[in-house]
Amino acid sequence: MNPYALAKPLLFRLDPETAHNLTMAGLRHAHALGLLKAFLPKVPALPKRVMGLVFPNPVGLAAGLDKNGEAIDALAEFGFGFIEVGAVTPRPQPGNPKPRLFRLPAAEAIINRMGFNNLGVDHMLANLERAAFKGILGVNLGKNLDTPIEKAADDYLILLDKLYGKVSFVTVNISSPNTRNLRALQGGDELDALLSAIKARQAALADRHGKYMPVAVKIAPDLDAGQIVDMAVLFRKHRVDAVIATNTTLSREGVEHLPHGGETGGLSGSPMRERSTRVISAFHIALAGEVPLIGAGGILRGEDAREKIAAGAELVQFYTGLIYRGPALVKECVEALAA
Ligand SMILES: Cc1cc2nc3c(=O)[nH]c(=O)nc-3n(C[C@H](O)[C@H](O)[C@H](O)COP(=O)(O)O)c2cc1C
Repeated sequence: MNPYALAKPLLFRLDPETAHNLTMAGLRHAHALGLLKAFLPKVPALPKRVMGLVFPNPVGLAAGLDKNGEAIDALAEFGFGFIEVGAVTPRPQPGNPKPRLFRLPAAEAIINRMGFNNLGVDHMLANLERAAFKGILGVNLGKNLDTPIEKAADDYLILLDKLYGKVSFVTVNISSPNTRNLRALQGGDELDALLSAIKARQAALADRHGKYMPVAVKIAPDLDAGQIVDMAVLFRKHRVDAVIATNTTLSREGVEHLPHGGETGGLSGSPMRERSTRVISAFHIALAGEVPLIGAGGILRGEDAREKIAAGAELVQFYTGLIYRGPALVKECVEALAA
C-alpha cells in the first residue's frame, strides 16, 4: 500500500498552503521518529557525474518546496539523487499576500505566486548546520523584493559568500515570475554583467576556500528562439556550471477554462511539460555540450523524466509531480531512466 494514496485525498481537502505546512511538519516528525523508512521504497542507484559532482541518481527535488531547508533529512529519505532547497534571499521576507498557491487537479498543475517567502539566509545556514544529510544539496538563490533590480547582483553575491562551501552547488534564480522585474536579468547586458560578477566572486571564493563550488543558473520557459541563443552564448562565455530549465510558466495554455486557471503567478505541472522540454532541446543545441542541463517542468511520470533526458538534460527535477504522485515518483523516474 502506498501511504501517499491515503494521505492525498485528505490533504487535497485542505487549503494548499495549509496542506503544505502540515505535510512539512509531519515529515519532520515522522523522520525524527524513524517512521519514514518503513513506508518508502528503496530507490536503485544510477550514478551520474555532472558539474564535477557524482549524483547517486539523476532525479532531484526542484526548488521551492523546502524554502528554508527545514526538512532536508526527511526529504532525503524519498531517495532523491539531489535536493534543491530555497529560494532563499539575504533578508527574511513574507512573500505575497495569501492565497498565493492554487491546485488545478484536473490538469495535474499548480499556480503559485509565493513571492520568495522565506526566513532569510542566516536561518537557512542554521538549518544546513543541523541537517545530517551528506548527499548532493543545492540552494536556490533569490533577490529580496525591495532590492532594486540594478542592485540584484549584490544580493546574489551576499548569498554566494554566505553559502560558499556549505552546500554542493547554488542556483542563481533569474526566472521566478513572482518577483517584479526579476526576469529582466535574463536579458543580454544585464545577464552578461550579472554572470561576470558571480563568476568572478566564485573564482575568488574557490581560491580562498581551496574548493570549487558549482553555480547553476535557472531560466524561464517563456523565451523565444533568439533569446535562447543569446543566453546560451553568455552561459558558454562565462562557463556557467549548469543551466536549470525550467522554472514555472506565465502561459495559461491548457488551463484557461479550469477553476483557478486565471490566477496570477507561475504555472507548473503537466500543462507545461512540452514547453519546458522544447526549451531544453533548444538550449541543448545552443550550448553545444559545453554546459550541462538540468531539466524540470511537468515531470509526473517516469516517461516524462525520460523525455527530458532525451531532449538533452543530464539530470531532472520535479516539484508538482511530488504533490500529485507522492514520493513513489522518485523510484518510478529512476527506473524509467535505468531501463
Ligand atoms: C509552490 C512553488 C514554489 C516554487 N518556488 C520556487 C523557488 O523558490 N525557486 C525556483 O527556482 N523555483 C521555484 N519553483 C519552480 C519549481 O522549482 C520548478 O522549476 C517548476 O515548478 C517546474 O517543475 P514542476 O512542473 O515539476 O513543478 C516553485 C514551484 C512551485 C509549484
